[in-house]
Amino acid sequence: MTTNIFAFGLGVGTHNNKGEWLEIFYPEPVLSPGSAIANCVAELGLSESNNANLSAEQLMQLESSLIEAGEAEQAKIAGKLIHSQSPVVAVVLTQDSPPSTVPEAYLKLHLLSHRLVKPHGTDLTGAFGILPNVAWTNEGAIDLAELPRRQLAARLKGEVLEVSCVDKFPKMTNYVVPDGVRIAHTARVRLGAYLGKGTTIMHEGFVNFNAGTEVPGMIEGRIFAGVFIGKGSDLGGSSSTLGTLSGGGNIVISVGEECLLGANAGVGIPLGDRCTIEAGLFITAGTKVTMLDNKGNSVENVKARELAGKSDLLFRRNSTSGAVECLTNRSAVELNSELHAHN
Ligand SMILES: CC(C)(COP(=O)(O)OP(=O)(O)OC[C@H]1O[C@@H](n2cnc3c(N)ncnc32)[C@H](O)[C@@H]1OP(=O)(O)O)[C@@H](O)C(=O)NCCC(=O)NCCS
Repeated sequence: MTTNIFAFGLGVGTHNNKGEWLEIFYPEPVLSPGSAIANCVAELGLSESNNANLSAEQLMQLESSLIEAGEAEQAKIAGKLIHSQSPVVAVVLTQDSPPSTVPEAYLKLHLLSHRLVKPHGTDLTGAFGILPNVAWTNEGAIDLAELPRRQLAARLKGEVLEVSCVDKFPKMTNYVVPDGVRIAHTARVRLGAYLGKGTTIMHEGFVNFNAGTEVPGMIEGRIFAGVFIGKGSDLGGSSSTLGTLSGGGNIVISVGEECLLGANAGVGIPLGDRCTIEAGLFITAGTKVTMLDNKGNSVENVKARELAGKSDLLFRRNSTSGAVECLTNRSAVELNSELHAHN
């Protein structure tokens, strides 16, 4: 009986001078392949699992055992990688545990950007600490300790080594461009972002890893780590969603379907469907909000966190009083009973 494993990837990447991985490109990562793939890799008897650089002989052996196992697509990739001048790795994730090597972390980021898992669909605990900080250049990934020597070497040839960024995460589009997306400024989308088909990311937009969009959506604001934006929602110019990486606490922020975050608005609570936040207004979990019923009458004051996940809300800062108000399409009675449903 064939049982599935969590994921598999054959990748080619870059080592530093110490033989440590800086980055890995997986042309065709697979989610839930049969365990036959894992057996093919196990037969290679690698000493460092999910980290070893495969030799041409090992790749030839892998190619033929993958063919025998009926894994034609992956066998084809193994065949192509035999001729690689860069290090090659085979990663088997038997289950979805936190990544423990750079190749494992990169495979998980690929699963997200290839839309094989959605944000929070794979365990990325500790990934940030595992990934090395790298100079991303026109000559590929370079270890920061080796950068001065490489810069000088380029100058001696009359060239400039272009360092486009120094970061733990590369830009997504150098690894995969999922179909049906438009990205005005590719450096604003990190590998590990999940972009649903029909997503447009304008110049001011930004998408972190383990974050992204359902379809379709217009993103001119920032989607920080861990945030998922529902179908048909728009993030206005320079708007923000609070991420969970730093200072945002443990609440996972999400935006439901058909919401609008106005230009320069921000949200620090999960929003339900069809919610609007006025341009320039930042709602955090503790923001005191005056609830207005469908006649515009004040019903009561609540903290924004009590409105988490509720639909059909419009948040605005009253331009006369300065108070943050929330308008609903509910009558005072409906609104009251909804607000106290879980008391
Ligand atoms: C919050 C927002 C959605 C309100 O828009 P709206 O529902 O069309 O509201 P209107 O401007 O028609 O105003 C309706 C009423 O509310 C009042 N009102 C609107 N904003 C108010 C505020 N901040 N404080 C007090 N009253 C306000 C209006 O004066 C008007 O009053 P009236 O009924 O007495 O005439 C809008 O102001 C907004 O911020 N949109 C975001 C657009 C955006 O940023 N898009 C992204 C671009 S990149």
